[in-house]
Amino acid sequence: MVDQQAHILMCSPDYYGIEYEINPWMDCARGADHATAIDQWSKLHALLQSLGARISLVDPVEGLPDLVFTANAAAVLGDQAVLSRFRFEQRQGEEVYFQRRLSELGFAVLTLDESEFFEGAGDALFCGDTLFAGYRIRSDAQAHQRVGELLGRRVIPMELVDDYFYHLDTCFCPLTPTTALYYPGAFDDYARRALAEHIETLVEVGATEARRFACNAVVVGDHVVTNVGCPRMHEQLRRGGFHPHETSLSEFVKAGGSAKCLTLRLDGEESTRPA
Ligand code: ARG
Repeated sequence: MVDQQAHILMCSPDYYGIEYEINPWMDCARGADHATAIDQWSKLHALLQSLGARISLVDPVEGLPDLVFTANAAAVLGDQAVLSRFRFEQRQGEEVYFQRRLSELGFAVLTLDESEFFEGAGDALFCGDTLFAGYRIRSDAQAHQRVGELLGRRVIPMELVDDYFYHLDTCFCPLTPTTALYYPGAFDDYARRALAEHIETLVEVGATEARRFACNAVVVGDHVVTNVGCPRMHEQLRRGGFHPHETSLSEFVKAGGSAKCLTLRLDGEESTRPA
């Protein structure tokens, strides 16, 4: 299925930690274990490499604990990247580092107006030619329209209604141009209808596994990588001809993130390639 080498952006968790609370998963009192986080991230990095991906890195920065979640850097299409504008001040300092690194990697980095919140591939995922975009909790619907204009793509805005699934990539994952995983409970009725209307095959993930970040999956060819504890979803994937892999990411779940959040696909997701 992969006819070109996957290229992924990651950031080592040297300065990762739970230093503030901007989503319901985060609890400063509980914290994350540093050595375990380094180990889990290294295993994810090695696993993605073993599946054939090339990994580029952005340098970690002290005082920016969530910089590890590179999915939030930008929305990437071809050689263009629309840079994020984070809703919370705690993450706004990341923008300049992502901007610099994406430019170095050869992308034309496009920016939005200051008043438009947009959290990159965390909230905007291509399935076929269409950009599916989650709004309300982090990104704004208006910002998504602007991203669609900049990239020349149709946008399907979808309201996110459950604070535990505050980014689209926590509850939706395109696998191919016509297939996606999703957790219905995270969307309002209108969004669920839009998904059913535009995506041929929707694989439903149950609430328990969705809370273990089953939908926060990294797709490399027909391989799908998630956190541990999603056996039902993995069985569904196997039946669909995919090869699921699991790797523990418990320390990142404490910040509200998992496999997909720790990556940004730079060469275009499999779901954007012609079927
Ligand atoms: N603590 C981070 C935040 O709340 C987690 C980001 C997870 N990233 C993602 N793409 N879902 O912003």
